Amino acid sequence: MKVLLFNGSMNPNGNTNLALREIEKELNAEGIETEVLCIGGKPVRDCIACGGCVGKGKCIFEDDVANEWIAKAREADGFVFGSPVYFAHASGRILSIMDRMFYAAGDAFKQKVGACISVARRAGTTQAVEDMNKHLSISGMIVPCSTYWNMAFGRNPGECTADAEGMQTMRNLAKNMAWVMKCIELGKKSKLNPPTLDLSQKTHFIR
Ligand SMILES: Cc1cc2nc3c(=O)[nH]c(=O)nc-3n(C[C@H](O)[C@H](O)[C@H](O)COP(=O)(O)O)c2cc1C
Repeated sequence: MKVLLFNGSMNPNGNTNLALREIEKELNAEGIETEVLCIGGKPVRDCIACGGCVGKGKCIFEDDVANEWIAKAREADGFVFGSPVYFAHASGRILSIMDRMFYAAGDAFKQKVGACISVARRAGTTQAVEDMNKHLSISGMIVPCSTYWNMAFGRNPGECTADAEGMQTMRNLAKNMAWVMKCIELGKKSKLNPPTLDLSQKTHFIR
């Protein structure tokens, strides 16, 4: 089993990375393979609602990480999306990539396990987690929780490791995530497969 940890910070060595690394360590201890992917500082496209992805499973834009991450997501069993808090929300770049990945390739995530975490100097963490959770909760994903909301505090790179409860929250999230993933895997071996979900109704309040 493999978990991808997406870092939505431009800084590959910042606090988001350290929080994700704490999760990674625990997942590895549980025998789960991991890969950390950082969005970096290069330009990232937003969704332009062109519909060019429909039926293709990938975005029309090839000049950032969206399609590369979609391809990796198809092979993975679990995901952690991490972001620094900017103005009390998740980073614009992670939301842009998530919009495009989930719109073009929601099937790569459907009924897999996923969680979101955020780091901040002081405030906006729960909102940032919620911003990203929206993608998971419309995609039929299984979202394990921790023993506090998935946040850690730190301003300058490295500081969040001094947030003892924040790091504990990350480790406990990883433990629950590993447990749920193992339960799903065992279930599949006993022919307890994910349910077929009904997508026949799609209304928009007008008709
Ligand atoms: C543009 C910008 C906006 C920020 N807004 C907030 C904020 O609303 N609340 C907060 O607590 N920290 C805020 N911060 C601080 C970062 O969330 C914090 O430094 C975080 O640890 C950075 O994570 P990183 O090292 O992974 O990039 C902001 C930082 C930047 C650059």
